[in-house]
Amino acid sequence: MDEKKVMLSGIQPSGDLHLGNYLGAIKNWAERAESFDCYYFMADMHTITVRQNPADLRRRTLEQLAQYIACGLDPEKNTLFIQSHVPAHAELGWVLNCYTMFGELSRMTQFKDKSAKHKDNINGGLFTYPALMAADILLYQPDYVPVGEDQKQHCELTRDVAQRFNHIYGDVFKIPEPYIPKAGARVMGLTAPDSKMSKSIPEGCVFLMEKPEDIQRKFKRAITDSDTENCVRYAPAEKPGVANLMNIYSAVTGRTMEEIEAEFAGQGYGKFKPAVGDAVIETLRPIREEAQRILKDKAYLESVYKAGAEKASYVANKTLRKVYKKIGFVAR
Ligand code: TRP
Repeated sequence: MDEKKVMLSGIQPSGDLHLGNYLGAIKNWAERAESFDCYYFMADMHTITVRQNPADLRRRTLEQLAQYIACGLDPEKNTLFIQSHVPAHAELGWVLNCYTMFGELSRMTQFKDKSAKHKDNINGGLFTYPALMAADILLYQPDYVPVGEDQKQHCELTRDVAQRFNHIYGDVFKIPEPYIPKAGARVMGLTAPDSKMSKSIPEGCVFLMEKPEDIQRKFKRAITDSDTENCVRYAPAEKPGVANLMNIYSAVTGRTMEEIEAEFAGQGYGKFKPAVGDAVIETLRPIREEAQRILKDKAYLESVYKAGAEKASYVANKTLRKVYKKIGFVAR
C-alpha cells in the first residue's frame, strides 16, 4: 500500500513563469515526489474569474504544463492535470458554495483586492472562488496544501468549510494542513531590488522561455549600487542590487557568498553582471529547450494531461459520491 502523504496544489495559468518562480519554488518540487503523492493542476476555472483572451488562456495552460514538466515535475511520479478536465471540481464547488457563508466570502482579502482592480467585472465567480478552491483541495483528501502567503486565508476557509461539513455529516473530508515549502532563493527584480521579481515589471524580470540574448541584456542593465565602490561584496542592506545578483548566482552555481566574493575580487560589476547572466542562461537553457520540445510533441502533452485527468477523476469521484450520498442526492 502507498503510505505516502498526499499533497496538492493548483497553479493559475495567468502569466509566464520567471526565474523567481523557478529558483524560489518550482526547482524544489521535483524532489517532493519522493516523499509525497503529489497532485498539481492548472487552475483554468479559477483563471476565468478575470476576463481572459481565449486563445491566450489555452496556449498558456499548455505552455505552463510543458514548463513544469521541463522544470523536473515528472508526470510518471506526479499527477498533472487540467482543472476543467475533472468535472468533479465544478460539482463539489457548487455543493460547497452552499456551505460557505456570504460573510466569510466577503472577508477574503483577495476578493477585495481583485474587485478593486477589476471594477467592471465583479462577477459571482470572483466572489465564490474560495468555495471552488475548497472543492479542489477537499476532493483529494490531501494532508498538505503548499501555498504562498497570499493563499493562506483561502486555505483557512477550506478548513473551516470542511469542519463545518464534517460536523453535520460525519468524517467526510480530511482537514488539510498548510505546507510551508522549504525556502528557495528570494529573487528580487533586476531593476528594483526592493521588490520581488514580478512579471508586472518585465525589464527586471527574466522569463524561463526568454532568449539568451534578452536575458543577458537584462542582467547587463541590472541595478547594482548607487555607491562608487564597484566591488562584489555581500551587504544586503547597503547593496541590495548586488546582493540580489549574488543570491541568483549562488542559487544557479551552488557557490557560497565568500566564494563569489573571491571569484570576482578586484573585477567590478562590469565583469560580474554578465557572468551572472551567463550562469542563468546555462541553467535555463535545458529547461527552455525541453519545454519547447514537449510543446511541439502535442501527442505526448495530450497523453500526460489525459492520464492525469483520469487518475485525478478516479480519486475525486470517490469523494464526490460520498458527499452526494451524505447530502441526500439520489445515486446516479
Ligand atoms: N488560488 C490559487 C492561486 O491563485 C490557485 C489555486 C486554485 C489553488 N485551487 C487551488 C492552490 C487549490 C492550492 C490548492 O494561487
